[in-house]
Amino acid sequence: KKIRQSLVAGNWKMNGSAALVADFNEKLKTVQCDANIVVCSPSTLFHHFSADAFSLGAQNVSHLDNGAHTGELSLEMIKDAGCSYAIVGHSERREDQQESNDLVASKAKKCVEAGVTPIICVGESLEIREAGNVEQFVGEQLDALTSTLSVEELSKSVIAYEPIWAIGTGKTATPEQAQEVHEFIRGYFNKVDADLALKLPILYGGSVKPDNAQTLFSQKDVDGGLIGGASLKAEDFISICQAAN
Ligand code: G3P
Repeated sequence: KKIRQSLVAGNWKMNGSAALVADFNEKLKTVQCDANIVVCSPSTLFHHFSADAFSLGAQNVSHLDNGAHTGELSLEMIKDAGCSYAIVGHSERREDQQESNDLVASKAKKCVEAGVTPIICVGESLEIREAGNVEQFVGEQLDALTSTLSVEELSKSVIAYEPIWAIGTGKTATPEQAQEVHEFIRGYFNKVDADLALKLPILYGGSVKPDNAQTLFSQKDVDGGLIGGASLKAEDFISICQAAN
């Protein structure tokens, strides 16, 4: 039996509709599953969710408080809409919105202060992997976290390792490749605080599907997954959640 509670989070990205939420509300209502389940939908859909079999998450959140910041959503707002999780630093936002390691760290800190669990994404591009620089690159992403969040704050966070080359490509990391980086990440935190490292959930993301979820999730340092494409179909998402038992 694993020491850490498994977690499976769906990241709908810029997809979904009120009809899809209705389908999820219905189909996930009776799901039998040991893992904690989170659905991170677009914010326009938050108010359509009614199920209590899973938690709601945002895909991004501002590091600023309410005020004159057009187009942004604050922690106060996402909490008010029912979110208890927020993804921060997804590679798509690091790329599309030029989010820096420091900005991601301040968003994560702001989440913890507000009582929202940040799912903090890290992970390398193919270029970095092929150059043999995975640990250096991911290590720098983690450095920003440890210099901004206290051990106490980090212990209320979740890390998601998402190799960019595996996102939406159908090219899943092998269980060994995933485990290798998860072990590096846990080892990194072990140097900060042994208890933190032991308890920190580290999720894998990148082309997780119903047929590969179980072997990935059974790796020693893989505590569940962050699921993109396959989280858009209730049946597939449920079977991935059940693979984390
Ligand atoms: O955040 C989840 C993600 O980036 C993985 O996407 O579609 O490869 O499962 P996908």
